[in-house]
Amino acid sequence: MLSTEKLTYWYTDKDQYLFKDVDLTFEAGHSYAIVGQSGSGKTTMVSLLAGLDTPKAGAILVEGEDIKKRGLTTYRRDKVAIVFQAYNLFTYMSALENLMTAMSITHASHKGDKAYAEAMLTKLGLTPEQMTKNVQKLSGGQQQRVAIARTMVCDAPLVVADEPTGNLDEDNTDDVIGLFNQIAHEQGKCVIIVTHEPSVAAKCDGVLRLEHREFTWEKALTPTPAA
Ligand SMILES: Nc1ncnc2c1ncn2[C@@H]1O[C@H](COP(=O)(O)OP(=O)(O)OP(=O)(O)O)[C@@H](O)[C@H]1O
Ligand SMILES: [Mg+2]
Repeated sequence: MLSTEKLTYWYTDKDQYLFKDVDLTFEAGHSYAIVGQSGSGKTTMVSLLAGLDTPKAGAILVEGEDIKKRGLTTYRRDKVAIVFQAYNLFTYMSALENLMTAMSITHASHKGDKAYAEAMLTKLGLTPEQMTKNVQKLSGGQQQRVAIARTMVCDAPLVVADEPTGNLDEDNTDDVIGLFNQIAHEQGKCVIIVTHEPSVAAKCDGVLRLEHREFTWEKALTPTPAA
């Protein structure tokens, strides 16, 4: 569903590239972890995949088409849902308003469907009282679940998350990864998570390591048996 072709990126000095000529494929219906040392370029890679920045060379293709063709703004609106470690919600809104706004902005098929948004938040363990108060009054784990609920009510086929479990305890981390896998396996989306936690990576279908400026599959998808 998503692939890179000779993807190359550097910030200031071409010789100090973060990665070069990277060819990767990510399939719908699967979850992926990107791991690697601090400063290796994981956030940079997912920013490129999410259409937040432009490659120095090479391309990113969605369903075979270069994302530049229709423009990055269109790509982000139609195809991508993003979960960041912080600042991921509209802080002056309630959880429910956050979901409704996202559904509206992205022209989701459930646009305006309050009951649908409420059902999703309930599924993620929020009480009616929690979903209607300002999100800043929720705990970190609750806010992160709202951010994930938001990706579930939108139709974006690609979900990108940068350290989504960074502030969470073990139980909340397990819940959150379970939800990401549910988004991949039940909604058929492609989920890509940056994480420094081996226990999180272990629960993803594929694990990609960025080391010495090279990406290698530490865990490849189990090949589906030939029909
Ligand atoms: N805007 C920028 N301008 C110049 N250099 C940058 C910029 N953003 C990041 N870098 C550098 O690029 C490298 C990769 O940064 P990036 O944020 O992608 O790493 P990361 O793998 O996500 O690290 P972490 O695990 O600490 O989040 C780092 O050395 C960083 O200092
Ligand atoms: Mg980072």
